[in-house]
Amino acid sequence: MLMSGENPTTAKIIIGDKEIELPVIIGSEGEMAINIKKLRALSGGVITYDPGYANTGSCKSAITFINGEEGILRYRGYNIEDLAKNASFTEVMYLIIFGELPTKSQLDEFENELKENAMIHEDMKKFFEGFPATAHPMAVLSSMITALSTFHPPENEHEDHRSDIIKLLAKVKTIAAYSYKKSIGQPYIYPDPKLGYVGDFLNMMFKKSPTDDYQVNPVVEKALNQLLILHADHEQNCSASTVRMVGSSKGNMYSAIAAGVSALWGPLHGGANQAVIEMLEAIQKDNGDIEKYVNMAKDKSSGFRLMGFGHRVYKNFDPRARILKKAADEILAELGVEDPLLDIAKKLEEVALNDEYFIERKLYPNVDFYSGIIYRALGIPKEMFTVMFALGRLPGWIAQWKEMRADPEFRIHRPRQIYIGHTERKFVPLQER
Ligand code: SDX
Repeated sequence: MLMSGENPTTAKIIIGDKEIELPVIIGSEGEMAINIKKLRALSGGVITYDPGYANTGSCKSAITFINGEEGILRYRGYNIEDLAKNASFTEVMYLIIFGELPTKSQLDEFENELKENAMIHEDMKKFFEGFPATAHPMAVLSSMITALSTFHPPENEHEDHRSDIIKLLAKVKTIAAYSYKKSIGQPYIYPDPKLGYVGDFLNMMFKKSPTDDYQVNPVVEKALNQLLILHADHEQNCSASTVRMVGSSKGNMYSAIAAGVSALWGPLHGGANQAVIEMLEAIQKDNGDIEKYVNMAKDKSSGFRLMGFGHRVYKNFDPRARILKKAADEILAELGVEDPLLDIAKKLEEVALNDEYFIERKLYPNVDFYSGIIYRALGIPKEMFTVMFALGRLPGWIAQWKEMRADPEFRIHRPRQIYIGHTERKFVPLQER
């Protein structure tokens, strides 16, 4: 990460006959940025240009650290491997949002608040009736999160936003489960305060009716707990940046999170986990012809990409993919599930990782490559995979929104552009065109 030699405190930019000196910012892990806040003023209007913001830092953040070259991911300084192995999802929610691992009493209080707020207003159930059974659960989720704010007027200007944070964390889980029940025509199952956060979600998803004697399988509960932890935050990804952007106009937290859900839905982002399974199913139907799909992915004109492969930041293994690949074997074995798609995924990974095209571009499996295999084994339908990603990422989005609103350098996000359209021209009346 660090350039060789001592840390520079300034950077010089030479534009034509002008030399501009700008401060350099250095983060706690040695990352460096040129602070261009004054560039336009000092240069007489010159801005930077960076499509997709691949080289642009939008903020300073203390939530998540990623080292893409070394495949490191830490939430508030704790390695993802340690958290995935030892923590509960509610502990990680608390850590990411409030900055520290909770004490026992803090965790008990937090979990009780989540239980007390898990119900949604009975009138909200009418919204579900309005959606067609074929409605994608991500469309339902985004709409219902915005609708939540009509029943719970946001405390937009409150300094700690705790009440909105608890309501979102507690009720989005219920909305997610209800959107599944709606899609299969089964009755909604109410939250059960006797169950923990993950167990209660599974109960609301898979208990067939109020009298069904469904019991949460501890193997499934542990697996889902780990999956949610692995998705909890990922610094300034597309959906987190969307939450910050929308939040920067000083709208409320619910509207920013609903926007984050929409950004996550795309197949280049969180929607990839559903797209991976659809890709593996297509390969399976095509007699497992992996070479054909790898060659398609290498052929730009095909428009096809290997879903679940590649990453803007990781140019090494995504540490979450490493954990999920191992977990997939363990969970399927513990559940006695045989899934031919797992074998296809492993073969696909092996072929790709030995192919010059992928090696040269440093394309490795990302978090979405194996997660769908596990969701399938847990009985979650593929249309719900990205909802699961959203449920995991919710604490991260909330933490990013909270940090943005508390930022001493807070200002509305409003990027500039380089105009390439027509220069000035005279209006031509209709009769002369
Ligand atoms: C997530 O940002 C985050 O942190 C996201 C996330 C999170 O936790 O929030 O990690 C979650 O969104 C993971 C990514 C899920 N998406 C996919 O799996 C979709 C498939 N992957 C790609 O479309 C792509 O890799 C992205 C979107 C993930 C990254 O896109 P970039 O950084 O813009 O990379 P690029 O498109 O510029 O690709 C660089 C090169 C190109 O080839 P050349 O023009 O250099 O010849 O690599 C090629 C691309 O064509 N390439 C791929 C590829 N991914 C990149 N070629 C084939 N298959 C792929 N999957």
